[in-house]
Amino acid sequence: MEKPSKIAPAKGKLGVLLPGLGAVSTTFMAGVELVRKGKSQPVGSLTQMGTIRLGKRTDARSPLIKKFVPLAELKDLTFGGWDIFKDNAYQSAANAGVLNPQDLEKVKPFLSTIKPMKAAFDHDFVKMIDGPNIKKGKNRYELALQIKEDIANFRKTSRVSRLVTCWCGSTESFVKPEEVHSTPEKFVEAMKSNHPAIAPSMLYAWASITSGVPYANGAPNLSVDIPALQTLAHDHGVPICGKDFKTGQTLMKTILAPGFKARMLGLDGWFSTNILGNRDGEVLEDPGSFKTKEESKLSVLEYILQPKLYPQLYGKLFHKVRINYYPPRGDNKEGWDNIDIFGWLGYPMQIKVDFLCRDSILAAPIVLDLVLFLDLAQRAGMRGIQEWLSFYFKSPMTAPGLYPEHDLFIQSMKLKNTLRWMKGEDLITHLGQEYYD
Ligand SMILES: NC(=O)c1ccc[n+]([C@@H]2O[C@H](COP(=O)([O-])OP(=O)(O)OC[C@H]3O[C@@H](n4cnc5c(N)ncnc54)[C@H](O)[C@@H]3O)[C@@H](O)[C@H]2O)c1
Repeated sequence: MEKPSKIAPAKGKLGVLLPGLGAVSTTFMAGVELVRKGKSQPVGSLTQMGTIRLGKRTDARSPLIKKFVPLAELKDLTFGGWDIFKDNAYQSAANAGVLNPQDLEKVKPFLSTIKPMKAAFDHDFVKMIDGPNIKKGKNRYELALQIKEDIANFRKTSRVSRLVTCWCGSTESFVKPEEVHSTPEKFVEAMKSNHPAIAPSMLYAWASITSGVPYANGAPNLSVDIPALQTLAHDHGVPICGKDFKTGQTLMKTILAPGFKARMLGLDGWFSTNILGNRDGEVLEDPGSFKTKEESKLSVLEYILQPKLYPQLYGKLFHKVRINYYPPRGDNKEGWDNIDIFGWLGYPMQIKVDFLCRDSILAAPIVLDLVLFLDLAQRAGMRGIQEWLSFYFKSPMTAPGLYPEHDLFIQSMKLKNTLRWMKGEDLITHLGQEYYD
């Protein structure tokens, strides 16, 4: 890809469109509003709190990322979304129970104004839930056209100059890439003939991309990870990224596993189990949705550890992931990891991790960063898959033939070097020989 010659300024309002107004999206919107009101800090957001080193370590140049690249400001964000339930964002946030009532009360007037548009939904893809706020149409193509109309209306009525869509809807049943996903033409035909491999999330992705709107996929669904939509993204000058926000247990995995590998410590087994009680957990009770999530969670270690290169260390690794729906926990998930490692002369050791995390609290800043970075990428003329945003995903999308980079620290370096590259700054290699000349 060519280096951006210039980045258009972030002029005017940026509309954020969220398919799925559930726990993650309402926590994200409420958080943005609390930060805008000066009542909270955007903890966990690289775009808001992160700095970037420029030049040599002796140069003392480390601006805030949001000062270094022209990102949209929080005051310019405006929100819309779709859901199968009619609850407005306040009611939905109250149901999700992520934020405490005191925090929610502070943003009640703001959240109450965000009402979901009718969803393009198919019960076959999300078996555990059903709702009344659903579009009707002859076929999937008609539903996709209705989403395009929603986008155009939102653009007009909220007077935004730019838009970004971020899928925060439920995890859909597992779909494998098929012939109908291969080209834009076949994809349109398949929408018209109601082909069963066209999931609702793909309709939102198609409608966004063909409306010139960048699209991020926060769930493990195939969604935008198919050649047809990638070709369209390229042709329409639209950046896209996915899949599956990297939050609790997988975040820990991609922090720990690169460390073991860097020190050439072996692994016999990694058993991960979770209990969670939110709607996401309920949806994952369905084997179809769980299979989609499982694939996303399992691939991480394989790519980080490269067992083919290190058969003595990782060739026999037994990796198991379990998710159990346990309502008393609500959004406060507990993830246990038992890690069987071995060291010098093969002597075994164990590591136990018990992460009492808050799912949506970890996901919300990711939504914010993805929205702001995708908007930046589009203004910089970048299009198609944005691999530099792998940092945020469990199953990063890559160009065909490339394996994904899962190591969080390589992903972070890639992200920051991309920002330096966009602005014509020297890339940082961490070689550092020049300090010893
Ligand atoms: N840490 C995290 O919370 C985390 C991490 C990684 C991925 N995710 C993924 O993010 C997504 C959202 O998570 P959540 O906790 O907010 O779930 P949630 O169940 O609270 O919200 C999802 C919402 O999407 C709606 N929905 C389902 N299908 C839809 C459709 N076709 N169109 C419009 N709306 C639809 C549901 O009604 C629900 O309100 C899930 O797919 C989840 O797997 C979450």
